[in-house]
Amino acid sequence: MAKRVLVSGGAGYIGSHVTVELINAGYEVVVADNLSNCDMTCFEGVKKITGRDDIPFYQVDCCDPDAVAGLFAENEIDAVIHFAAFKAVGESVAEPIMYYRNNLVSFLNILEESRKQGGCNVLFSSSATVYGEAEVLPVTEQTPRLPATSPYGNTKQMCEDILRDSVAAYKGVKGIALRYFNPIGAHPSALIGELPRGVPNNLVPFITQTAIGKRECLSIFGNDYPTEDGTCLRDYIDVVDLAKAHVAAVARMLDGKMKEDYEIFNVGTGRPVSVSELVNAFEKVNELKLNYKYVDRRPGDVMAIWADTTRANEELGWKAERSVEDTLASAWAWEKHLAGK
Ligand code: UFG
Repeated sequence: MAKRVLVSGGAGYIGSHVTVELINAGYEVVVADNLSNCDMTCFEGVKKITGRDDIPFYQVDCCDPDAVAGLFAENEIDAVIHFAAFKAVGESVAEPIMYYRNNLVSFLNILEESRKQGGCNVLFSSSATVYGEAEVLPVTEQTPRLPATSPYGNTKQMCEDILRDSVAAYKGVKGIALRYFNPIGAHPSALIGELPRGVPNNLVPFITQTAIGKRECLSIFGNDYPTEDGTCLRDYIDVVDLAKAHVAAVARMLDGKMKEDYEIFNVGTGRPVSVSELVNAFEKVNELKLNYKYVDRRPGDVMAIWADTTRANEELGWKAERSVEDTLASAWAWEKHLAGK
């Protein structure tokens, strides 16, 4: 029988891409989402892409312990991928209580239910933000975490620790934390992608919205960093590649291939790309000109971060495959799809 994976936050940007890849790989998926930061657009897209009209969807808030208990009671769950969390750095600084409550309580409820089942495989969606401004690049999983600079980042560190401690304490609970670098792009079908509410914080949705005319001008935050072209360096990972890393990690857990009961993997490309390079690549691959200007640095930004992906490549047997150009073409196709063009 096919193994069943609960995807919390499965109607969102990354969750919807992961749902598609899980189904492609032969898993059954149960999606839970409270739709606090998305609508049903991507879930409907997932159904179209997979040709599956029967994917169970629960509109529940994982902060509600009874609702989470219900998910486990009604479905035989073999693994959970936990995405359901708030993710805006600036908002977390303004609303720390809201962030700590939402991001910690929902994860605690998932873990509590996993433990009650006598064990479960739990994959936590973590972030490269845990490394902060690392002294040595690229970062490996052994690179020390630095104190978080935002409540959002702190919730990622805290949830990693909660997972580690739960795995140590509760027999049968196994955990993997995937530390994402900068996920960008959209599914090649252009039926699912990122749907930011309001003004986007992240670079690529701001670029595509500027290109389509929703925003007047992209501000590039700082061109006086000590990098080759003066702009920040990041490791931009295609969202479908990222989704496939989840499938590899779930298979590792379910097939009994884990070497330790709690494992951490960097999920990136291992390739640093500057903001200017990304903007140029977007213009070139999509044959358009973007309106942009250089402005002051954004407070809180690290100058450079990219992944050493050796561990994920060797242990998960996974590697990022899509080129940055193809990824940027997919982001643009998705923006045009949204605009009905
Ligand atoms: N940038 C701009 N203009 C914009 C938006 C971003 O120049 O309008 C620049 C940023 O300064 C940065 C790069 O583009 O150099 C990437 O910025 P993003 O906001 O897209 O991504 P971040 O690297 O800041 O954020 C990522 C994740 C967060 C995580 C954070 C912490 O998206 O979830 O890393 O390092 F918390």
